[in-house]
Amino acid sequence: IKTNGLQSIKAAQDGKTLNDLKVNLLGKKGSITKALHGISELPVEERPKIGSLANKLRDELAKTIDSKRAELDQAALNQKLKDEKIDVTLPGDSVPKGHPHVIQQIIDEIDDIFIGMGYQVLSGPEVEEEVYNFEMMNLPKNHPARDMQDTFYITKDILMRTHTSPMQARALQKHDFTKGPLKMVSPGVVYRRDTDDPTHSHQFHQVEGIVIDKHITMADLKGTLEVMTHKLFGDKFQVRLRPSYFPFTEPSVEADITCFNCNGKGCDVCKGTGWIEVLGAGMVHPNVLKMAGVDSNVYGGFAFGVGPDRFAMLKYGVDDIRDFYLNDLRFLSQFD
Ligand code: PHE
Repeated sequence: IKTNGLQSIKAAQDGKTLNDLKVNLLGKKGSITKALHGISELPVEERPKIGSLANKLRDELAKTIDSKRAELDQAALNQKLKDEKIDVTLPGDSVPKGHPHVIQQIIDEIDDIFIGMGYQVLSGPEVEEEVYNFEMMNLPKNHPARDMQDTFYITKDILMRTHTSPMQARALQKHDFTKGPLKMVSPGVVYRRDTDDPTHSHQFHQVEGIVIDKHITMADLKGTLEVMTHKLFGDKFQVRLRPSYFPFTEPSVEADITCFNCNGKGCDVCKGTGWIEVLGAGMVHPNVLKMAGVDSNVYGGFAFGVGPDRFAMLKYGVDDIRDFYLNDLRFLSQFD
């Protein structure tokens, strides 16, 4: 039993063979057990001797099986470590990573600037009621200025908003002035029935802004636009206001900033003026306040509407607005 057992244990190559051997040698029906059972047939004097011999052999076999098992486990572990070895110096597979669209990046920057000045950021419906897009913005039916904004109509009363200004009315209606002033920006997409060309897109972006409180002046408007311009483009950029007309502001202005291309010296981009027009603004018309249920004798303020598409074109020297909407990754991935 001993020689055979020890030899077979040493020769075992896997755990299963070892288990079988253990059962055959040490199990209930194994050789050792059988031998121990046979003791009763021996003469009384020999029983203790043979019994202790068999017990010793059982212990030896059990020990040998245990150490063989440890040896096999270690070998298996070594093999596994070898097979699964990772060379950490190999270059990894690169995972393609997206990034926000360049226009969204500019909008995020604008939002952050105004959040820093205590504004809330609201978003509103792109499919808008005509009442908000026009009537509440002091553009009654048949008002000639409706033609300024060629409109996609969905039904007689529902349209694709032509500007983000309806958010002025929505914010004014909602705001509780007993809790403090209204300061809000609202970015989003707007639509106009324009024929697409390098400077026109039937879909583009605006960020509306409005501040309403007691004692707000046009100087506050100019200062606010200056802060935005300096933070977006740098301190050397100046802001200039020119008189203009919008039905929902009185007085109305258009704001120019220092030309990016020539730094204010005058070039083809700014038609020699040194200035680039970037936004419309003004003091909110009393009719707009009244229609939204705000007392225009007590409250007043300014509003503005900026075009992030135009900012992006100026900042990055893009000369065709349509590039922003064509989803050509060769163009868009430049702005990572
Ligand atoms: N809504 C105007 C436009 O689309 C911009 C504007 C906003 C003008 C707010 C004045 C005040 O051109």
